[in-house]
Amino acid sequence: ARLHALVPCAGSGSRAGAPIPKQYVTIAGRPLVAHTLTALEGVERLASILVVVAPDDTRADAALADIDVPRVAIAHCGGAQRAESVANGLSVLRERGAAPDDWVLVHDAARCLVRPAWVDALIDACIDDPVGGLLALPVADTLKAEQGGRVRVTVDRRGMWQAQTPQMFRLGLLAEALARAGSAVTDEASAIEALGHAPGLVPGRIENFKVTQAADFALAERLLTV
Ligand code: C5P
Repeated sequence: ARLHALVPCAGSGSRAGAPIPKQYVTIAGRPLVAHTLTALEGVERLASILVVVAPDDTRADAALADIDVPRVAIAHCGGAQRAESVANGLSVLRERGAAPDDWVLVHDAARCLVRPAWVDALIDACIDDPVGGLLALPVADTLKAEQGGRVRVTVDRRGMWQAQTPQMFRLGLLAEALARAGSAVTDEASAIEALGHAPGLVPGRIENFKVTQAADFALAERLLTV
């Protein structure tokens, strides 16, 4: 089985408050998604890397002008929700010859601090696993469940993890899981879970955060400049 990366890059990034989608904001001299792609290009076991952008995207070609063709391809098949973008990307991988038992590593374009070694750790942990798994981080803060702006209850954080990406599953299983789960799921693992499987949790790094809010750009800039 081969390994492919699928990079959903079709969001509007409205929470980041930037005038253009966050994945194209310049960080440390390059568009955010270019950093993401450079990191993934450093993962030697990836046979191909597919970047899924919006159908009307006009920025991807310029942003990724220096990418490693032909290993990296851009598909204008993004959907209204992240899960749709991923499902459409899986169809493109199939059209391009990927097999149902090939592994797919889905990685958010917005996680531009990912390092090849962390992706390699995920691959090492999952390659002989029947289900697959994801990078995740044990929750460090105390968790509060809210009601009307006040604390309803404190949630026991023991055994709680924050999901990151990449998330690594077999192409066929993931396509089936996403088709059944619908577009509301916010990660691949939850769709796999809904089929009754238990994805593996592989410790990630706090630096592998998703650039989401305005303040995240400054932090990402500092980490990418050192
Ligand atoms: O919005 P959020 O930060 O959760 O998005 C995570 C990733 O999914 C981003 O890289 C974003 O570009 C991508 N995405 C997508 N298609 C959508 C929404 C988000 O590819 N419809």
